[in-house]
Amino acid sequence: MALRKLVAGNWKMNGDRAALSELDSIDAAAEAHPGVDVAICPPFTLIVPATGRAPGLAIGAQDCHTAISGAHTGCISAEMLRDAGARYVIVGHSERRTDQHESDAEVRAKAEAAIAAGLVAILCVGETEAERDAGRALDVVRGQLQGSIPPAGTGETLVVAYEPVWAIGTGRTPSVADVAEMHAAIRATLGGLLDGEGAAVRILYGGSVKPSNAAELMAVPDVDGALVGGASLKAADFEPIIAAA
Ligand code: G3H
Repeated sequence: MALRKLVAGNWKMNGDRAALSELDSIDAAAEAHPGVDVAICPPFTLIVPATGRAPGLAIGAQDCHTAISGAHTGCISAEMLRDAGARYVIVGHSERRTDQHESDAEVRAKAEAAIAAGLVAILCVGETEAERDAGRALDVVRGQLQGSIPPAGTGETLVVAYEPVWAIGTGRTPSVADVAEMHAAIRATLGGLLDGEGAAVRILYGGSVKPSNAAELMAVPDVDGALVGGASLKAADFEPIIAAA
């Protein structure tokens, strides 16, 4: 079953109010490709002005807390994101799994909080280079899915992003065959975890997606879109990726 593609940009810790001007062209590109869902996940500080500037674009966040509210200084809840106008939230990005030591259980709790708040959770998984070299990539990703996929996830509320850690920001990507093998394994694992809904959950590829490789990656079976970092910062780079979806 071909699923509607999603191209999501993750601005990470980049961007100020001046950078929001990029959204004008991205919004226009999204409008020109109505068969593709397009989202931008800027830093928290830009969510409200982004929704105001590009009302036709889905805006997301890059993290949320597991709780609705409370004494968690410096944290943002999924409810707050929803209130600010966000529709998506990335959870379990490898940079947070590494820098903030987020476990699979915490990632699952964040995804559940996001879904309960009415957001779509973009849940990230992916192996390190050492794990791939050791022949453990499939097992590592299956384990992350088993530990972090919320059992109530559906095609409407959950997206999985496969991001090999060694491909993020490096200009390197797995071979088409390796992407196909991994996405097929993720699809099969989702089927086991979510029954029929597993076939409806979109699986994005992320890691050095750029205009020159987007079409090849998007054509791989079970690649239902892309999670794009660096190439989402400039409309001139992001637009051709939307067009390739
Ligand atoms: O969330 C996005 C990914 O980490 C990919 O980043 O496109 O800069 O490699 P990248």
